[in-house]
Amino acid sequence: MLYEKIVEQLLQEMKDGRRRPGDKLPSIREGAEVFGCSRNTVIRAYAELEQKHRIYVMPQSGYYVAHRRQGKEEARGSEEVRDIIDFVWAGPDRSAMPYRDFQHCMNEAIERYREDMFTYSEAQGLASLQFQLARHLRDLQVFTVPERIYVVTGSQQALHLLVGLPFPNGKRNIVVEQPVHAGMIESLRGYGGEVHGIWYEEGGVDLERLEALFRDGDIKFFYTVSRLHNPTGYSHTNEARKRIVELAQRYDVYIIEDDYLGDLDGDTRNDPMFAYDPSGRVIYVKSFSKVMLPGLRLGLAVLPDGLREEFLRAKAAADVHSPLLTQGALEVFLESGMFAAHIGRMREIYRRKAVLLQEAYRKYLPPGTAYTVSYSGFYTTLGLPAPLRAQAVADYLVQRGVLVDSIQHMYLPEFRQDGVLRLSVSQVDEGLIEPGIRAIGDGIRELLRQRTEVRFVERGVIQE
Ligand SMILES: Cc1ncc(COP(=O)(O)O)c(C=O)c1O
Repeated sequence: MLYEKIVEQLLQEMKDGRRRPGDKLPSIREGAEVFGCSRNTVIRAYAELEQKHRIYVMPQSGYYVAHRRQGKEEARGSEEVRDIIDFVWAGPDRSAMPYRDFQHCMNEAIERYREDMFTYSEAQGLASLQFQLARHLRDLQVFTVPERIYVVTGSQQALHLLVGLPFPNGKRNIVVEQPVHAGMIESLRGYGGEVHGIWYEEGGVDLERLEALFRDGDIKFFYTVSRLHNPTGYSHTNEARKRIVELAQRYDVYIIEDDYLGDLDGDTRNDPMFAYDPSGRVIYVKSFSKVMLPGLRLGLAVLPDGLREEFLRAKAAADVHSPLLTQGALEVFLESGMFAAHIGRMREIYRRKAVLLQEAYRKYLPPGTAYTVSYSGFYTTLGLPAPLRAQAVADYLVQRGVLVDSIQHMYLPEFRQDGVLRLSVSQVDEGLIEPGIRAIGDGIRELLRQRTEVRFVERGVIQE
């Protein structure tokens, strides 16, 4: 087939460096001339390469060679390539980022806010961005008014400030899920009140224990990632969300709902806890780092009346306001509909990766290895068979070109475990998920075999 020949030729040219990441490919029309075929054949070849994440398309601009890290097979014969499959790095999929579109938004923002850059801006964020954010939040079933939306310098800033603020309920202690996003652990370090943990398991959290904590624990807030949790990928059911909100209302506890990955949840039946909360007890927090760019440092918090003033004071004291230009660019990105189109693509990419990942887990992991199942492949965890330790497995795999992360730093001290790995497929090309998981499965088997041999020898020595 002619289109396959074109695919092959372009892959070869990428391999030997004649086409480098970021290079523009011939347009469809030019391609038909260059390759001596019909436009439809070029379209088919490009679609195939796009599916393999070897090229990406930028609307109104053209086709470009994707940036990527390569696996062993592809690395052979190419000296400069890093020989790794990276399940650690959890930024957004590089090949799917709409850089050029966003560049256009940045330019537009410079024009639009040229005068405003000469002075300080509103601590709460650009009013026109708040308006766009309120519209965008409706797609996530978060119905609120722009005045309640606070633009923050990454959602981590909102979490950090909220930990330090007094709450209207006058209570002191905090409950967090276990494990929990590492940034939250850092923000809680040295916190004056008590910090309680509650296990996040497949079905959610133990609601009886949560109720007991809410009732007796003088709890200021419960921090929860209600869907696609970092690191497990778990989500609460709608039933559990409703129940948690009811408990919060009954016992006068606030909920910080961190919906950092809500955009990637393609299951439209899922509602955020915020949707069940008429009383203003749920503080909704959102990040733009996982589906857009972490370097933008933009996030938001939707706050109840009783916290707005204190929060604004703390935010202004921390950094006066979040950078104007990136706020302006995000506003243009949202307003133009580019964000909605981008999210649609991202959701599909991560869903496909999640399916491939689960297949590979089923196929290659040895018995005794537990894995979590998630709608999005962004994060999942692997529970290693005893007595393997996560760090030892990570150290072993790195020698074989596979990067994985222990989640030891994501626990409160009394919950700490050392047999769990976190994997993100965000940066891993679809074609490398299977070889990566196979290598992990082989690594676990080999380490278990070595352990068994050691124990056998040890026993032998003792018996002698
Ligand atoms: C669950 C969760 N919440 C919040 C954040 C902070 O994101 P950012 O400050 O980049 O918006 C992260 C970052 O990884 C995260 O995993």
